Amino acid sequence: MTATQTRTSRAGDKLSGRVAFVTGGTRGIGAAICRSLAAQGADVAAGYSGNTERAEMFAQDFSGAYPDSRMSVHRGDIASPDDCRRTVAEVIERHGRLDILVNNAGITADRTVLKMTDDDWRRVIDVNLSGAFYLSQAALKHMLERGSGRIVMISSVIGETGGIGQSNYASAKAGLLGLTKTLAREAAMQVQRSGKTDGLGITVNAVTPGYTATEMLESVPEKVLDGLKGKIPLGRLGEPEEVARVVHFLAADASGYITGQVWGVNGGLDM
Ligand SMILES: NC(=O)c1ccc[n+]([C@@H]2O[C@H](COP(=O)([O-])OP(=O)(O)OC[C@H]3O[C@@H](n4cnc5c(N)ncnc54)[C@H](OP(=O)(O)O)[C@@H]3O)[C@@H](O)[C@H]2O)c1
Repeated sequence: MTATQTRTSRAGDKLSGRVAFVTGGTRGIGAAICRSLAAQGADVAAGYSGNTERAEMFAQDFSGAYPDSRMSVHRGDIASPDDCRRTVAEVIERHGRLDILVNNAGITADRTVLKMTDDDWRRVIDVNLSGAFYLSQAALKHMLERGSGRIVMISSVIGETGGIGQSNYASAKAGLLGLTKTLAREAAMQVQRSGKTDGLGITVNAVTPGYTATEMLESVPEKVLDGLKGKIPLGRLGEPEEVARVVHFLAADASGYITGQVWGVNGGLDM
């Protein structure tokens, strides 16, 4: 990587000195979020659950593209409260602080309600909703000590509209919106009570991507995908980078007056 390429990777310095933990940060939307945060100067910790090969590939590519950004990867199952607490502690230990938590990791296990197994229901709720709760709880404690922080939930348009075969996923993603608003209220209240109001505050927001071109969509049959595209006013799938740019915007210090909000990135799908 030459100095010129380094400069090209860096798009700004809105997040200089900040440390971000992005769950599911080693591929798909999460990897794009890591890159966009690093492009604004943040140091980045990327979480993953078990695909070590992809995590290593991500780490190698990332270090080449953003040599100025300190980066680490952290393995843990976010369905496990202990793993959530451990990985947040690891990030703080490794980087000295945690300014930005992006609850991005998520899974699908689609089946119609009548065919949904207890395990498919529980696993998707545990990963997609409970994981974000445990991680936010651990991060919030640290952010409250300093009086500043940013939490961004990656929900889904399906959490707002529902989706055939996705009762578990839609319920978890809708649950994230309630969690976002409650955390936003509690964080604001606690920051005000603590008197640590340096102007940055702690904000909590959600992003609801529409259908986005990642491996998550690989299980959707081509014909179904064509049908879905036909319903998107902009006529195409979203790109991970198009979700990521909203996340780095929300993570910036200057976005401190935006909290408890839901940001759609879906090509107009929910109009
Ligand atoms: N793609 C879409 O169309 C779309 C639309 C709306 C919302 N979203 C949401 O956006 C987020 C990212 O989606 P994506 O399409 O980028 O997904 P993806 O390509 O399938 O990547 C998922 C990431 O999450 C990690 N992960 C999965 N289960 C985990 C667990 N139990 N503990 C910790 N990490 C775990 C994976 O780690 P490993 O690599 O180790 O498996 C991977 O890094 C998800 O929350 C998804 O629901 C996606």
